[in-house]
Amino acid sequence: MTGTGRAPSHEFASSSQRPLSIARAEGAYLWDDSGRRYVDLGATHGVGNLGGSPPEIVRAIEAQARQILYLGSGYRNPVRDAFLEKLLGLLPPSFTRVFLSNSGTEAVEAAIKIARSATGRTEIVAAMRGFHGRTLGSLSATWRKELKEPFEPLVPGFRHVPFNDVAALEAAVTGSTAMILLEPVQGEGGVHVASEEFLRGARSVADRSGALLAFDEVQTGIGRTGRLFAFERWGVVPDLLLLAKSLAGGIPIGATITSDAVERRFRGSHHSTFGGNPLACAAGIAALDVTVQGRLPERAERLGLLAKERLAELSSARVREVRGLGLMIGIELKERVAPLLAELEERGFLAISAGATVIRLLPPLVIPEAEWDRSLNALLEVIGHG
Ligand SMILES: Cc1ncc(COP(=O)(O)O)c(C=O)c1O
Repeated sequence: MTGTGRAPSHEFASSSQRPLSIARAEGAYLWDDSGRRYVDLGATHGVGNLGGSPPEIVRAIEAQARQILYLGSGYRNPVRDAFLEKLLGLLPPSFTRVFLSNSGTEAVEAAIKIARSATGRTEIVAAMRGFHGRTLGSLSATWRKELKEPFEPLVPGFRHVPFNDVAALEAAVTGSTAMILLEPVQGEGGVHVASEEFLRGARSVADRSGALLAFDEVQTGIGRTGRLFAFERWGVVPDLLLLAKSLAGGIPIGATITSDAVERRFRGSHHSTFGGNPLACAAGIAALDVTVQGRLPERAERLGLLAKERLAELSSARVREVRGLGLMIGIELKERVAPLLAELEERGFLAISAGATVIRLLPPLVIPEAEWDRSLNALLEVIGHG
């Protein structure tokens, strides 16, 4: 264990933290402040699809910082215009309007306000095991009770249905439903992949009821699941698409993307001081270029399939299930994973969990193939059946 023996941190202890102080990142590697190198199998919680400090992002923000560091959305800006043009150019033509913010939870909050305002309705239907953020609106959409209870009362009007249960979704959506909010692959909830039937069912329930369909692709977006956006795999196009995490290659950003038709129905105002700032937009342009030109979604698909083949070697004595898409993989064990994560850390691999019993692999999409192979070997050994 490193990073100990130092003065206590003054950070507000609002969530768990490993006793590890990370000082530097490059590609798929992180270095602690004693100089020890680790393979980052969690892409620093899904942000680092391009790895740590990608040179293209560094160059883009250096150049942008010399032009104009900050500009709010009260003025147009050519870099913001170019970023939105590029982002929308990668999406189906129904997507024409983007609200930019600084994080995933803000992307969700904007979607809640847009859906309520555009439909004149108040209820939101989300999924059990879903995770959408920790501010009061997005927390209301999040499933886990222990994350919510200390902060109640939350926003009223949220219902949760079992993931992949079309009949339950149909029963929950009424004439008061403003939005159906789903992750195409549930990340924090344990890496559960939506069935095509569920997403298609959600689309038709939304169409029939007049609710808006929103996909929270904060974690699945930008190549992670083997497609640039996870919804492309099923061809089910939502009314609202929510992005954040890796969208700007490590610079804070959130995006709530919708159509002219939805925007026309929006009443009221919504705003973010830092949303759409040129620094994040310049980083966003670079991140999309690197992802598309480097064919990183295809890479994620290939390395993900490789992992599934290797992990199939795991015996069922300890492993309940391996699931996921692309480089978003969950290994559900029949026991708590914390000791295994500690063992992986000892060996120089930083993986994360999704709940108590799931090891979640979200490596940078640029991880060298040999390093990915070495990581899978370590996992197989640590789980005990390599
Ligand atoms: C699917 C999903 N939505 C929303 C969020 C919240 O994002 P942020 O932590 O940037 O607010 C997360 C974060 O993990 C997420 O995975």
